[in-house]
Amino acid sequence: MDALPILIWPDARLTQTALPVMGLTEAIHDLARKMLRTMYAASGRGLAAPQVGVMQRVFVMDLTWKTDTGSPLVCINPVILWRSDVVAQMHEGCLSIPEQMIPVTRAQAIRLEWTDLTGARQIKRLAGMAAICAQHEIDHLDGILTFDHLPSDERNARRAQNI
Ligand code: NI
Repeated sequence: MDALPILIWPDARLTQTALPVMGLTEAIHDLARKMLRTMYAASGRGLAAPQVGVMQRVFVMDLTWKTDTGSPLVCINPVILWRSDVVAQMHEGCLSIPEQMIPVTRAQAIRLEWTDLTGARQIKRLAGMAAICAQHEIDHLDGILTFDHLPSDERNARRAQNI
C-alpha cells in the first residue's frame, strides 16, 4: 500500500500555485494512481496534487466510494468554464486541515473542463457535492485553503487552532 504522506497546513507548499501538466507521462499516471490510493486510505473524497507535495494541476475525487462501488475521477489541468449564480454553503473538511470543518460558500453548479488520463479533454456540468468538491480541489491548485474564504478575524482564529 503505497499511500503518499499528506501535507498538513501550515506547510508552505499548500499555499503555492501549481503548474500546468505538460504531458501525460508515466509519472502522471503513477501520480494519479497513488493519489487515489492515498485519498481512499485517508478516507477522503477529494485530493489535489499539492497536498502530496506535487505542484502540478491534478486532482482526484470520488464521491461515491464510501456508499457505492466508487466512481474515481482524475482531472488534469481543470478549468471552471462557468459558475452558477446560485450558491450553497457547506462545512468543508480538508485532509490538510485536520479536525476543522469550515463554512465555505461556493457556486452550487459549475461547468468543468479537464484532461482525463487518456488525454481527452472532457467537459461536464457538476452540481451539488460534486461541484463543491471540484471547486475545493481547484482551490488547492491555486494555493487557496478553506480558511481563505473566511473574514480575516475568523480566518486567523481558525488558523491559530492548527498551529
Ligand atoms: Ni482540501
